Amino acid sequence: MNASRPWWESAVIYQIYPRSFQDSNADGIGDLNGITQRLPYLVDLGIDAIWISPVFRSPMMDFGYDISDYTDIDPIFGTLSDFERLTGQAHARGIKVILDFVPNHSSDQHAWFIESRASRSNPKRDWYIWRDPAPGGGPPNNWLSEFGGSAWEFDAATGQYYYHAFLNSQPDLNWRNPDVVEAMREVLRFWLRKGVDGFRVDVIWHLVKDALFRDNPPNPDYHAGRPPNEALVPLYTTDLPEVHDVIATLRRTVDEFPDRLLIGEIYLPVERLVAYYGRDLGGVHLPFNFALLNVRWDARCIQSLIAEYEGALPQGGWPNWVLGNHDRPRIAGRVGPLQAAVAAMLLLTLRGTPTIYYGDELGMPQVEIPRDRVRDPFERNVPGIGVGRDGCRTPMQWDASDNAGFSTADPWLPLADAWWSNNAADLRGDSRSMLNLYRRLLRLRKETPALSVGSYRSYALDEDLLVYYRELDDTRLLVALNLTDRPQALILEDGTQGKIVLSTAAERDGERAPGTVTLAGHEGLIIALSGH
Ligand code: NOJ
Repeated sequence: MNASRPWWESAVIYQIYPRSFQDSNADGIGDLNGITQRLPYLVDLGIDAIWISPVFRSPMMDFGYDISDYTDIDPIFGTLSDFERLTGQAHARGIKVILDFVPNHSSDQHAWFIESRASRSNPKRDWYIWRDPAPGGGPPNNWLSEFGGSAWEFDAATGQYYYHAFLNSQPDLNWRNPDVVEAMREVLRFWLRKGVDGFRVDVIWHLVKDALFRDNPPNPDYHAGRPPNEALVPLYTTDLPEVHDVIATLRRTVDEFPDRLLIGEIYLPVERLVAYYGRDLGGVHLPFNFALLNVRWDARCIQSLIAEYEGALPQGGWPNWVLGNHDRPRIAGRVGPLQAAVAAMLLLTLRGTPTIYYGDELGMPQVEIPRDRVRDPFERNVPGIGVGRDGCRTPMQWDASDNAGFSTADPWLPLADAWWSNNAADLRGDSRSMLNLYRRLLRLRKETPALSVGSYRSYALDEDLLVYYRELDDTRLLVALNLTDRPQALILEDGTQGKIVLSTAAERDGERAPGTVTLAGHEGLIIALSGH
């Protein structure tokens, strides 16, 4: 492999939702020492980097996405020295550490906001977004919170409203203020000096808002049952041209340190998304590509989505793929437990950097959360329309001991039903399990650069089979994914033969693939080609 490539181009990232990974101090909530304890599992799995959702000081109104001190660890998760130990041990095992940076908003308990709201003349007043009421009273404009209701909260003491794109306890910082930019650059440097390998930046496309505070236009496609904020097109609140200058500044800050990675969380259509690579690739290295989270699960749709994405990438822009995260329903819930194996093969054989969501390697399901156990503030604010995020955040299923080995105390969220048989320890012992499929795929990917950095070329279009080549130098691989529950025949190109190097059905590994190969329902194959 080309040694001059940055490490993340061939890396596989693993997202840890720290509250749910491993509890080490019997409070029912996962923590940093728990992650450290489980590093051997991650090494055995074969991932290269962990991205840890926020572990900073926080009142936890949005479970860490409401930060009250950007340069300290919340006691729920441990201490700064626990963090240093985790980073040191991860590095010693060859695992990179990526932190979650949440610059769009802080907690209302952050010292900056406490000062800002103290008076209109406070020097930090302009660090947040304050506006007078509308002329007739009420919020300054029609902007809506992602979590329901107006995005403006009235502060009676100072007679103005502040803007919050999410909870009213998550006031948005004013990224048009250079002091905010400088303070946040220092936050990045604080963690970079501690040796972190990069950041995933929360809602990066939200950072800058319209300077004139114009009303957002109504969304003609809105229909009842969708989150209420979708009633407006967020024309003046997200994806503003000015955001790219801010991102370029963040990127320059990260570039003060060698080999660090910047990932942006961005939910936008592909043609808007790719702008976040920035002018001359001076934006984020990886604008998260969430297209697979919503795509209709059939071969044509996925193939055209890949083609659209590959076609839209700027010269030199490196692709990436995501199948799940802490905000979206689990893949096994979406496509079913059998098809989830095919989805895993897709994620780990596409060109670009994949991110695995913790527990997907066990086929963890989307868990139905009883009403009285709902913790997610989004679901609490906007109940009953299916926006709840607890169901994809349930505790990791480690083994068949109490609470699935996650904690000796009652876990903060209920466990999935079948944890006593569906857990890492049991699955590790079953050669046909989802966990071993992930392990085999990750090993093959590491041994076979064609799978990570090789070229992508689609094969003939087929209703039910998604088929593509991955090629590098002399290696020619064909990936064939059966997106249905019925057997499907794959006809290789004239004159080619192959050998199955990996099947989702483990027992087929090594089988010869003459001109035609039949895939069982929900089967995926990686075939090494020869001849032609
Ligand atoms: C995106 C995060 O992924 C989500 O979990 C959070 O609630 C919002 N940003 C607000 O920070």
